[in-house]
Amino acid sequence: MTAVFPTHPAPPAVMEAVARVLIADDQPDVREALRMLFKAEGYRTEAVSNPQAVLTAIESQDFDIALIDLNYARDTTSGREGLDLLSQILAIDSTLPIVVMTAWGSVEIAVEAMRRGARDFIQKPWENQRLLAIVRTQLELSRALRQAQRLEAENRLLRAHNRPTFIAESAAMQPVLQLMSRIGPSDANVLITGEHGTGKEVVAQTLHALSSRAGKAMVTVNTGGMPEGLFESELFGHIKGAFTDAKADRVGRFEMAQGGTLFLDEIANVPPSQQAKLLRVLESGELQRVGSSRTQRVDVRVISATNANLAQEVAAGRFREDLLFRLNTVEIHLPPLRERRDDIPLLAMHFLRQYGQRYRKNLGGFDAAAMQALLEHPWPGNVRELDHATERAVLMSTEGVIRTADLALRIRDTAQRLEDMSLEDVESFLIKKALSRYSGNISQAAEALGLSRSALYRRLQKYGLS
Ligand SMILES: Nc1ncnc2c1ncn2[C@@H]1O[C@H](COP(=O)(O)OP(=O)(O)OP(=O)(O)O)[C@@H](O)[C@H]1O
Ligand SMILES: [Mg+2]
Repeated sequence: MTAVFPTHPAPPAVMEAVARVLIADDQPDVREALRMLFKAEGYRTEAVSNPQAVLTAIESQDFDIALIDLNYARDTTSGREGLDLLSQILAIDSTLPIVVMTAWGSVEIAVEAMRRGARDFIQKPWENQRLLAIVRTQLELSRALRQAQRLEAENRLLRAHNRPTFIAESAAMQPVLQLMSRIGPSDANVLITGEHGTGKEVVAQTLHALSSRAGKAMVTVNTGGMPEGLFESELFGHIKGAFTDAKADRVGRFEMAQGGTLFLDEIANVPPSQQAKLLRVLESGELQRVGSSRTQRVDVRVISATNANLAQEVAAGRFREDLLFRLNTVEIHLPPLRERRDDIPLLAMHFLRQYGQRYRKNLGGFDAAAMQALLEHPWPGNVRELDHATERAVLMSTEGVIRTADLALRIRDTAQRLEDMSLEDVESFLIKKALSRYSGNISQAAEALGLSRSALYRRLQKYGLS
């Protein structure tokens, strides 16, 4: 009989390290013949005679491939024992390539073995060169696979390294952090809510970086800024000739995000007619490019963000409730910066370093009054406003530190925002102002506020200012 596969020597990739082959057969002569065959190829072998010994060997050593017989009890050729063994091995090591040996003429059992995860099969009596070719191919494939997995893991690490800085140490942000670390790695659809500039996009990027999709793209769509006519083609793509301006095929954002994450920003602004189309794709996991009848499956994780109150939008009939339920499997609400003032110094220092580098200014930090001003400011524009104020201050500063004047915080904003603040926020705000005006002197601050010293102390404790 001639060899079915070419018998050229193993390519270098396979020779890199000595391959370890596990052989399992109840017949001693079969084991011996296989050992000799593989030894001549330069492989290391371990030969065992029963299923239990196979499992013990796999649990205690690393193999690159296993060659197992499907029949062990001499009175049977059903292959049942071997099929069970196959499943048990894969339960221990799902990446180990397994080649099964079957009795001549029992192709059905071989097919069943392949269905259960065997990589290939060979019938007895085997033809040496064919068996060697099968083993080599499987070794190469599994090396390539393992290398790809390693690369993917490294990429993930690298990207995780590059992931956006997300500063959140205040008590108000702890629930957000916990939620993020819990659902970050999952495929759950996440709706991120919060005022302008609270960091919704940074959260989306961080969730993506934490997920197994980190090696793939996160594609952002600003659903708010899109003309209604373009929405479908932008998201789902189109084919040439689908409409007058469609001069060529176009890949939509959903397709670009294949295997990765799609970030739908400003989701509340999607017009109702488009909401229905979006919902259909999210429900079915399938889309068709505009003008095409070919259905494509899409595998994307959807993260969306809004500064609107979607429940209110639903009540007002402007947003579909069924779409909201698709999007908000998990909802992350980012508190405004004025409710997490403890984070202000860290954020401010982070921006200071960032802009200090960008504009080549070596700044030591903020002086006490400037920091106090940052802590007191109501930040209607949230973290983005702090980001911009710091950038401006870095540019304006003429000394080694940032002074209050460099920040140019507009007090006008304060007056405007007072009516939006809760009573407690206003109280804590006024107390901080009085304290800074009297340089921390409790008696003077209490008098200015019309409070007794003990009443002021109680409030300092309540607001964590003491
Ligand atoms: N927790 C944080 N740590 C570090 N940087 C942050 C944080 N939150 C926000 N930022 C920075 O503040 C700026 C605004 O954040 P971002 O764009 O994510 O806000 P947003 O909620 O998406 O705002 P909008 O609603 O206006 O789109 C960005 O430069 C971002 O990097
Ligand atoms: Mg945003």
